[in-house]
Amino acid sequence: MQKKILFLVAVLSVMALLLAACGGGAKEPAATQAPASGGESAAAPAGAGNADAGKKIFEQTVVGSNPGCVTCHSLEPDTVLVGPSLAGIATRAATREDGMSAEDYIRQSILEPDAYVVDGFTAGTMIGGWDKALTEQQLNDVIAYLMTLK
Ligand code: HEC
Repeated sequence: MQKKILFLVAVLSVMALLLAACGGGAKEPAATQAPASGGESAAAPAGAGNADAGKKIFEQTVVGSNPGCVTCHSLEPDTVLVGPSLAGIATRAATREDGMSAEDYIRQSILEPDAYVVDGFTAGTMIGGWDKALTEQQLNDVIAYLMTLK
């Protein structure tokens, strides 16, 4: 009798293992489907940039754990704080790199500050980590704001 129970327990645990294995296998296609639908909803919140919201973010002295843009960038022409003045950046950005739109250049300047280093400044001076300090939406907002600085 006891042997029968042990046998049952053994069979049940093997089945449990098999189920777990199958369950794991079955989860994978589900997981690959998730980003497809999640992709839509991930793209949705990061909509077109809002320049007014971007101005507020630009003016914050602290953004996440980073010092804010305004602590290094003046909007007065030719005024250098730590970084170059961003007066007229929308116009200048369009001329910085061949074939790169002003918007793309500004995005790159924020996400990869060292990809293009402005003359007279040193690589590594603009702090990085903006992909973490800003949400995708906030990044779009800041870019939309800088695009108004013609
Ligand atoms: C710690 C100081 C510092 C902070 C904070 C900072 N920057 Fe900068 N930034 C710099 C420096 C220095 C440069 C010039 C060197 C370079 O090109 O990387 C620069 C360059 C730029 C440029 C390119 C300007 C040009 O004329 O081509 C843009 C655009 C820019 N920063 C935007 C921002 C924005 C937006 C923020 C906030 C989200 C920010 N920066 C925060 C220091 C800073």
